[in-house]
Amino acid sequence: MAFPQTRMRRLRATAGLRGLVRETDLTADRLILPLFVTDAAGDGAQELREPIPSMPGVERLSISAAVGEAREAARLGIAGLLLFGIPAEKDQQGSGAWDPDGAVQLAAGAIKRAVPDLLVATDVCMCEYTEHGHCGVLREDGVVDNDATVELIARIAVSHARAGADIVAPSDMMDGRVGAIREALDEEGFSDVPILAYSAKFASAFYGPFRDAAGSTPAFGDRRGYQMDPANGREAVREALLDAGEGADMVMVKPALAYGDLISAVSAATGLPVAAYNVSGEYAMVKAAAAAGSIDERAAVLEILTSLRRAGADTIISYHAKDAARWLAEQT
Ligand code: PBG
Repeated sequence: MAFPQTRMRRLRATAGLRGLVRETDLTADRLILPLFVTDAAGDGAQELREPIPSMPGVERLSISAAVGEAREAARLGIAGLLLFGIPAEKDQQGSGAWDPDGAVQLAAGAIKRAVPDLLVATDVCMCEYTEHGHCGVLREDGVVDNDATVELIARIAVSHARAGADIVAPSDMMDGRVGAIREALDEEGFSDVPILAYSAKFASAFYGPFRDAAGSTPAFGDRRGYQMDPANGREAVREALLDAGEGADMVMVKPALAYGDLISAVSAATGLPVAAYNVSGEYAMVKAAAAAGSIDERAAVLEILTSLRRAGADTIISYHAKDAARWLAEQT
């Protein structure tokens, strides 16, 4: 039946009708808040919060400040955190990444003790820990050595699990790392720790503010030798299927906004839970537009996050998580 019998506006007429037929919901228990944790202040009680200029409202946190942030996230009903380490010292090998007294390890432990029900996921990568800023160890010719890096990535994941991480999330984009992590976790007694694989991670311009925050801009070259070409969709599905085959429990599409088609495709192809990472550049754009008075920040953020759920994301990682959770609580 077509117009005039059919009138699509009938079910849009009131808030009650719209609510009745809404296809997608957005709730705080789908959200993960990324945190930048630094060991610059040591592991003592000192509260340190350092603003990140390119990401208004986001700060680098000392361990105790991260615990405060975790309490706040839990109070808002957010599902969990994704921890990134900002080490005071870097080296060629990125050895700080598996240091049991590193920022991520200390923060994971402290947060799990303080707020046991809040999920702690950890980013497993080397770029924040290497002097050169690449996501792995370099061969003599300057190319990232895949197989040598995979061994270290597995070691980092185990150190995070040992520190108390509930989920480990490798973001390095080396081949074979999910299988290696699974094997290492199982050997070390962490067979219950799930892997959230950054499966379809693109070589994106939208990571700019993050690299600023983490001091992880590559000192030479770029990441196109390991991160994906933004033009490739079939390859994204293939990456996700390979990770599923290696034992990934969840897969990720990153960035989120320019890759909504792949959130749907990866979800349909793998049948696994999919996380969408609403990355730093996406956050910074919204903040800049809102500060300029061009958009309504609250409406824009809720629209963006809802669109990711509609695309098929089960979980959304977003720097907007605290604001969104607050706004969602006000709506009900
Ligand atoms: C580390 C990593 C990056 C991000 C998450 N993990 C940076 C990169 O690949 O350069 C980006 C997150 C963001 O932009 O919010 N490999």
